[in-house]
Amino acid sequence: MKQFFPGVYSFGGKAATLNMVKGISVYGEKRIQVGKDEFRIWEEKRSKLAAAVLKGIKNLPIKEGSKILYLGAANGTTVSHVSDIVGLNGFVYAVEFAPRSMSDLISLSEKRKNIFPIFADARFPERYAEVGKVDVVYADLSDPQQVEILLRNAVFFKSGFVMIALKARCVDSSEKPKVIYDKSRKELEEKCRILDFVILDPFEVDHGFFVGEVKS
Ligand SMILES: C[S@@+](CC[C@H](N)C(=O)[O-])C[C@H]1O[C@@H](n2cnc3c(N)ncnc32)[C@H](O)[C@@H]1O
Repeated sequence: MKQFFPGVYSFGGKAATLNMVKGISVYGEKRIQVGKDEFRIWEEKRSKLAAAVLKGIKNLPIKEGSKILYLGAANGTTVSHVSDIVGLNGFVYAVEFAPRSMSDLISLSEKRKNIFPIFADARFPERYAEVGKVDVVYADLSDPQQVEILLRNAVFFKSGFVMIALKARCVDSSEKPKVIYDKSRKELEEKCRILDFVILDPFEVDHGFFVGEVKS
């Protein structure tokens, strides 16, 4: 079977992950049976990480067995696919501060034993320090300060890698997206080596996506 990355499969040009909880879709996505395995189509218009995969990132530090700190988990759409990829030997610590989304995340974590919802503000990593060292910090916060928040978490949790979905208009609606991407790159480069940058249009308008390795 064709794969974009280990654990990320290709079905007719769309991405998909091996469903950890057979028979159940998380956000209405299509499921496909192949022999004994069931795959979930990973909708690129619903998940910026799926869009980044289709737009050709070359590095995916999220792997089987990885420990991921996910900032801005919302209802768990992307978190659920990350949960499929890391599998039962991995961990997804899903930080979210909106109560309604947290309630959906708690329901999701009851079915998926590798998701640990954390009801907290991602600006204050010391409030969930018990997470400990992680492999990757992923941020999708729609916050003008989100690069700074990502780096603060990456340093605090001694992460090897960072990934960030950046909504240009949310950082500064008066600037051109390219200016925002360049500024964000410089900010990230203070602590990381950039491995990938892709623009997510047309799947997500005016969004950029970075993958970086934290400098030791
Ligand atoms: C764009 S949505 C995330 C979508 C999600 N990553 C996905 O792909 O399914 C941004 C989320 O970040 C949350 N958020 C924003 N700032 C936050 C903060 N400081 N701490 C925790 N959550 C935050 C919002 O409540 C919202 O649910």
